[in-house]
Amino acid sequence: MSGTVIIGAQWGDEGKGRITDLVAKNMDMVVRFQGGDNAGHTVVYKEQEFKLHLIPSGILYPDVTCIIGNGVVINPEVLIRELEDLKKRGIDASRLRISYNAHLIMPYHIILDKAYEQVLGKSKIGTTHKGIGPAYSDKTSRSGIRVQDLLDLKIFSTKLEETLKLKNDMIENVYGLEPLRFKKIYEDYKGYAEYINKYIDDTSIMINKALDSGKDVLFEGAQGTFLDIDHGTYPFVTSSSTIAGGACIGAGVGPKRINKVLGVAKAYTTRVGSGPFPTEDTGKAGDYIREKGHEYGTTTGRPRRCGWIDPLVLNYSIMINSIDSLALTKIDVLTGIEKLKVCTGYRYEGKVYDYIPPHQTAMHKSEPVFEEMDGWDEDISGIREYKALPANTRSYIERIESLTGVPIEMISVGPERSQMILR
Ligand code: GDP
Ligand code: IMO
Ligand code: MG
Repeated sequence: MSGTVIIGAQWGDEGKGRITDLVAKNMDMVVRFQGGDNAGHTVVYKEQEFKLHLIPSGILYPDVTCIIGNGVVINPEVLIRELEDLKKRGIDASRLRISYNAHLIMPYHIILDKAYEQVLGKSKIGTTHKGIGPAYSDKTSRSGIRVQDLLDLKIFSTKLEETLKLKNDMIENVYGLEPLRFKKIYEDYKGYAEYINKYIDDTSIMINKALDSGKDVLFEGAQGTFLDIDHGTYPFVTSSSTIAGGACIGAGVGPKRINKVLGVAKAYTTRVGSGPFPTEDTGKAGDYIREKGHEYGTTTGRPRRCGWIDPLVLNYSIMINSIDSLALTKIDVLTGIEKLKVCTGYRYEGKVYDYIPPHQTAMHKSEPVFEEMDGWDEDISGIREYKALPANTRSYIERIESLTGVPIEMISVGPERSQMILR
């Protein structure tokens, strides 16, 4: 039996979807364990682009079972749209299973997410407006509605009625917005229930049984380590445990089930939304990376903030997640940059940190200390063997390895499934 976790080592969008797609080839099961449709995981296969928000990125293989675990928050409308979209494109998604215990994103979560961001004004988090924070808040405050409630519409109706009173009070009296109608929500969710009914299953048992019988299970992280609710740049984070440990909670397996943790990192750094980002480049280099790397959000289309690789960020992720090895993505995007910057420290109030400082003000206000490396001009997107990469590309990769102490086992040189160098 083997459990592997794929985790984002930066601020999300590292290329987890495409790495999951690649690794899933040799897996029996792929499990999403946290987040919701704030995630946007892209898989490019035979010139077709798939943008997956809720369904695990293993779905393109006909014999891989895909699971949405208890730790995910599900907007059923989005899920059904995604299932329909796959069907239209000839992908059979009947192997999808959804946990009884996953929480539902309700229409009021989305309204409250947007309204709260508006109130925050300049201090806003920059959320995806998908209702993620309010849905997880309801889960922890024990007023959430779960997938299993859809199987008993009497329970669903009672819970919705009770909750909606309080939510409408807030929507009307705190934010001055139009209240939501019970009947409309009830009817919509009744329809969703009929559609997703057949996918609902006891997923924790399924995963544990698969592991018991020697099968290989891949846990697909969403977001990234620095967006983790506990270990990220709080409050500029998402509302779930995005780290490897989150796989146990959000899938229902014990920690001994995880045999390998694969971290995914871009060859540079990006972030969407507000919050500290020491190696951000707001000048020409950042713009070059954004345009060349198509750094616009998969979920919201927002331009991503771009900057240089930050081994301090990677080292923190390696520690928090027990990362065994890294997949380095999008190195082709750096082609054509004369001098590449690699961060070796943060300078703040006369001190240079070579680790993430414990007080976030230091991270927010620090000046990055960079070393420069020579870039390369050659088109590397067709290369499939490490040895064939230009010497400067190899030096860059090996420098990241020496600063992190972790092997880089995969290097991607383009978005397509085959554009990959395995070492
Ligand atoms: P995820 O959220 O971590 O799955 O990442 P996203 O899918 O949001 O963003 C990664 C983007 O980069 C997608 O558009 C991918 O198709 C693209 N991509 C992934 N790997 C590579 C690569 O090696 N080179 C290039 N040029 N694009 C890549
Ligand atoms: P994937 O899985 C990048 C960011 C948002 C915002 C913060 C909180 O594709 O890597 P939320 O809507 O979750 O309450 O927003 O988290 N964020 C992501 N950034 N990739 C993601 O997912 C993200 N999911 C959320 O931009 O800063
Ligand atoms: Mg993404």
